[in-house]
Amino acid sequence: MDWYRQNGRHTLPWRLTRDPYAILVSEVMLQQTQVERVLPYYRQWLERWPTFTSLAAESPAEVIRAWRGLGYNRRALNLHRLAVEVAHRYGGELPRAERDLRSLPGIGEYTAAAVRSFAFEQPVAVADTNIARVVARAVLGAASQRDLTAAQMTAALAALLPNRDVRAHNLALMDLGAMVCSARQPRCEACPLAQRCGWRQAGMPAGAAPGATAPRFESTARFARGRIIDALRVAPATAAELQAALPSAHHGRLDSYLQGLRKDGLISEQDGRWQLPS
Ligand code: ADE
Repeated sequence: MDWYRQNGRHTLPWRLTRDPYAILVSEVMLQQTQVERVLPYYRQWLERWPTFTSLAAESPAEVIRAWRGLGYNRRALNLHRLAVEVAHRYGGELPRAERDLRSLPGIGEYTAAAVRSFAFEQPVAVADTNIARVVARAVLGAASQRDLTAAQMTAALAALLPNRDVRAHNLALMDLGAMVCSARQPRCEACPLAQRCGWRQAGMPAGAAPGATAPRFESTARFARGRIIDALRVAPATAAELQAALPSAHHGRLDSYLQGLRKDGLISEQDGRWQLPS
């Protein structure tokens, strides 16, 4: 905690608030996007839609447009659906119970725990990848969480929880993982836990190999789906027009992309033209 007080990222805007809406928006944006990229989007989003109710009143198409550049567009649609549910089912206030949170669109185990800890200051462990790596190494002596079972990780996280200020404890672990105990090049010389780190004491054994290296982004369905949404952000389009927006390697799969996006609720079709949901 001394290390965190001196070195932590205390001025990140979502750490200066306890507003559950603002914190939820930040956590959804941060799920798959780097902090630096998220910052301007977060600020503009809160200016434009400061509450669940204001977001719920917006059209899904406009919300998907505002997500442009963040990637994983389903997050935008889920955030909008969540706002509608919070507005109608919970009177515009985010519920506090884990069960209720987990029943909302786009809220998984991590995000539910993050909101409970960072907004409501409930004494729960948060296990993002950075936190899990620190615990895997310092407490359990493994190179990474990939070398452990989920039960081992859950037990270690629970055993670490302090009696008070669990929120700061979680943020401290997060920052230590992000800033010092990084996946590839941990800076042990700067680590306050180095002297009693289980992984160091074990001689820093290599862990399980990381998963297969990712394919080139341009060849993935995620890239193609993103391109399609980018085109429709500007205006509705026919399948032929969308085809022209894709590299030829994807042309044979256009129909499956469109059906998948439609099934997710990200696009709809009317009179032979595709569009964002109105
Ligand atoms: N502070 C609170 N939640 C965070 C997150 N997911 N990433 C970075 N900083 C955070």
